[in-house]
Amino acid sequence: MRVLVTGSSGKLGSVTVKLLTNCGHTVIGLDISDSETTNLIADVKDKHRMLMITQGFDAIIHTAALHGRHMDLNYPKEEFIDTNIKGTLNLLNACVANGIGKFLFTSTTSIYGKSLDNDKQAVWVDEELPIRPRDIYDITKQTCEELCREFFEKEKIQATVFRVGRFLPEPDHLKLNHRLYRGLDEQDGAEALKLALEHNFEQFEIFNISSGSPFQKEDLFELKQNASSVIRKYYPEAVRLYQDNKWELPEHIDRVYSSDKAMRMLGYHPKFTFEYLLKKQVSH
Ligand SMILES: NC(=O)c1ccc[n+]([C@@H]2O[C@H](COP(=O)([O-])OP(=O)(O)OC[C@H]3O[C@@H](n4cnc5c(N)ncnc54)[C@H](O)[C@@H]3O)[C@@H](O)[C@H]2O)c1
Repeated sequence: MRVLVTGSSGKLGSVTVKLLTNCGHTVIGLDISDSETTNLIADVKDKHRMLMITQGFDAIIHTAALHGRHMDLNYPKEEFIDTNIKGTLNLLNACVANGIGKFLFTSTTSIYGKSLDNDKQAVWVDEELPIRPRDIYDITKQTCEELCREFFEKEKIQATVFRVGRFLPEPDHLKLNHRLYRGLDEQDGAEALKLALEHNFEQFEIFNISSGSPFQKEDLFELKQNASSVIRKYYPEAVRLYQDNKWELPEHIDRVYSSDKAMRMLGYHPKFTFEYLLKKQVSH
């Protein structure tokens, strides 16, 4: 397939370009910043340019966005609306104009927002959990998700949403902790997008994409109250590694992201899980 990947100089976009290219797709990377995975320097806010340069593609994977880092830097709300909402709308309109049948949109698990607040137990986060945005970033992603639904239903474009978990740069032990319940390796994120490219969607779908989790619904209460005891139960071998490195197991876990739907429908099987990282650390 001929695929346009936006945000191709970013974390997720760059590995997606590499993975799809290795799999034999013809991939063009688009970004406002240059990099080895970007062929086109262009701004998704530029409606006319998007119409012109998207001609001849079979699919668009849209990862370009302003996100949490830009929240921390106090970017004005208007810029979130312009880049995230208008940028996404420009690309969806370009899909219609140029007969592009597939549009894969990266949203965020942070969109569940206030639904994650629970004093008593950890929250099981599947796609049925109501979204309750907390800030302008979440609000723009919520609107983009609805745009995707609208274009799927009215324009027959296979616009599909991926609420991806956290893949921020962080120290090894925090990365390890997060992979237990909310993290994602961008390589697994790219794999999910690749699988979706090859899937025929009959209706609008939303998927949570994370590293998966060993935890079950019956663990939710204890995870909130005493997470380290649950972790010890599943991974007794982790205790030694944490002690030797003077790392701390999390005392409280507030959520568990479920990617069961993507596993079931797309055959998604994350590779870079907690278990994977644990084995890698132990063998060092
Ligand atoms: N990193 C995370 O933990 C995380 C978590 C949840 C969701 N997400 C979502 O995943 C996607 C990718 O995130 P990432 O961490 O790879 O981001 P990133 O910041 O590494 O990459 C985003 C890229 O988009 C480009 N970009 C920004 N504005 C643009 C514009 N107007 N036109 C063209 N390109 C533009 C940037 O130059 C950058 O290279 C985003 O949609 C983000 O909201 C990320």
